[in-house]
Amino acid sequence: MRHPVRTAIFPVAGMGTRFLPATKATPKELLPVIDTPLIQYAIDEAREAGIERMVFVSHPSKSAIERHVMDDAALRATLKQRGKAAIADALQERAFHPGDGNVIFTMQNEPLGLGHAVLCARDHALPGPVAVLLPDDLIVGEKGCLAEMIAAYEAGTAGHLVATMRVQEEETSKYGILSVTAERGPVLAADGMVEKPAPEDAPSRDAVVGRYLLDGSIFDDLASQPPGAGGEIQLTDAIARGARRIGLAGFRFSGTRFDCGSKAGMLSATLHLAQGDPALNAVLAAWRDRTRPFPEAAWAAE
Ligand code: G1P
Repeated sequence: MRHPVRTAIFPVAGMGTRFLPATKATPKELLPVIDTPLIQYAIDEAREAGIERMVFVSHPSKSAIERHVMDDAALRATLKQRGKAAIADALQERAFHPGDGNVIFTMQNEPLGLGHAVLCARDHALPGPVAVLLPDDLIVGEKGCLAEMIAAYEAGTAGHLVATMRVQEEETSKYGILSVTAERGPVLAADGMVEKPAPEDAPSRDAVVGRYLLDGSIFDDLASQPPGAGGEIQLTDAIARGARRIGLAGFRFSGTRFDCGSKAGMLSATLHLAQGDPALNAVLAAWRDRTRPFPEAAWAAE
């Protein structure tokens, strides 16, 4: 058995340019799917996986994330006064509380890349391997992706374990791509990883999505990592270097991944979750049948 994964790092400093104008004043991590912000899905997934400490690598312009994540006692008091105790209790249950040493916000002031963002969390990580979750990759399934990965990792797969899924050939330039050497059930042994290769240069079609379990040595590799693709310090490059020393594997998770940094991914995630919510069935039925008006929508003339 290896050391347990105790720390989760959430890189949330990005500008969200793919989703402007929605992200001009609202951090992309706070965009909701139905009624829950993306960051909350990621936090819930980390909690389910038994993570002890959560480190958010944020930006000074995105303080709304901290307001969402931390408890708001005044809001809860007002809700209670107005007879909405159940809503107040639900908020409290999911929030972190001031003084909790296991929730940490640290700033990445300059956009130097995902690898640099993870490095910013170094001083706050507990000993042992760390998890990294990119909240705009929403993964929905019966079992949380991170919990599933931790089970595989702690059984001893490789030094770094990254979530993977098959993509179309023409999509390799949007992802980190694994160089796969062997396949054993959901685990793909790999000897390297390339950031956003053109289809003709891609070593496989196994793309990395935003869940990583990384050996603690990742921080040393990141600290000495020169800028790569796009002039940024790439997490992919530091993982690839570690691969030679401690091993690398991909994990084909069982859930469905939605790219909520894109409009199509966001709409797909919304429709997918709406299907499981009886309160929204009438909306989906109206869309499918086209014969009745949407609920909660009416023509002024009616
Ligand atoms: C990042 C990583 C990339 C990974 C992707 C998953 O890219 O650099 O390796 O495949 O997340 O969503 P980004 O989408 O931030 O450009």
